[in-house]
Amino acid sequence: MLKLPGLIDPHVHVREPGQTHKEDWDTATQAALAGGVTLILAMPNTQPPIFDAQTLELALQAAQAKARCDYAQFLGAGPQNATTAAALARRAAGLKMYLDSTFGELRLDRMDLWQPHFEHYPKPYPIVVHAESRSMAAAILFSALYDRPVHIAHVSREEEILLIKAAKQRGLKVTCEVCPHHLFLSAEDIPIFAGNHPGRGEVRPRLATRRDVHALWQHLDVVDCFATDHAPHTLAEKDSPSPPPGFPGLETLLPLLLTAVSEGRLTLHDLIQKCVTNPRRIFSLPEQPETWIEVDEQVVYEIRARNHFSRCNWTPFEGWKVKGRVRRVVLRGRLAFDDGQILVEPGYGQNVRH
Ligand code: NCD
Ligand code: ZN
Repeated sequence: MLKLPGLIDPHVHVREPGQTHKEDWDTATQAALAGGVTLILAMPNTQPPIFDAQTLELALQAAQAKARCDYAQFLGAGPQNATTAAALARRAAGLKMYLDSTFGELRLDRMDLWQPHFEHYPKPYPIVVHAESRSMAAAILFSALYDRPVHIAHVSREEEILLIKAAKQRGLKVTCEVCPHHLFLSAEDIPIFAGNHPGRGEVRPRLATRRDVHALWQHLDVVDCFATDHAPHTLAEKDSPSPPPGFPGLETLLPLLLTAVSEGRLTLHDLIQKCVTNPRRIFSLPEQPETWIEVDEQVVYEIRARNHFSRCNWTPFEGWKVKGRVRRVVLRGRLAFDDGQILVEPGYGQNVRH
């Protein structure tokens, strides 16, 4: 049995408030624990979006009542809320800026709407951007102009990882995360796992080329964090005429990464850096005392969504053979997960920005 620190996932769509048929604070945090994740940062593109004191309260009340692992909640950057968001920074995981289109209403199209957020959001607190390709270049320029750290979500392409590498070499305050689905899947895999339901292949950023996937593996040293971008939608929604983008990911993160470790594509040291040490530093998260996970490194099995706790009930990795299973999770001194059973009650989870 291998003992690791509890993992931190800085990018989770919990779906509550508003879309609890997809997921809620209870099921998302059960999925987290089952995946060896003891701390999640929740994204703000809920219904309503989390962008002021009232909506933050709505999310935090649901979390306080239902979360089974520790958490913090992001604020979303809107066209009008720069001073409001800045005033709430101490209570939030960070500020999420949607600079490209994706699921939900939060989006800042014009660069003059980005400016007040870079001006006002207090510097010690993180800004995370959804910024692909050329928008990423613009976001990095903003980071340089305002001399403040920016964390780039879900990097998926060769041109992007090369740009981040160059920015880091120049000493710019840029960090980034990569999602397992962009490391283990390319656009060519969509017909294989989606069959005649192309909506199941929809995700933002889109699955990229094999060359892009290769480039991410080649530049793992530029990647600060692994994040799931756990984005559950039901199969009925994925198979509808207007499928929403997003894949679940909390319960497949560690098995996929441990399989890569067993194949020599990743070291255990890198896994811990990118799933614990770096996210804790980048997002200024506290250590979780008496918290660890126990993993059976040798067991080989197939991924099955029916064994998952996420409400969405599917995964693009269905049937994948993986090596490594989470056996036990201890969170702040309590056995929280043991051989497939969740043992802590809703509300056990704590807000780390309390
Ligand atoms: C996310 C969602 O469903 O909320 N979808 C996705 O494809 N990643 C939104 C996002 O992270 O962009
Ligand atoms: Zn996301």
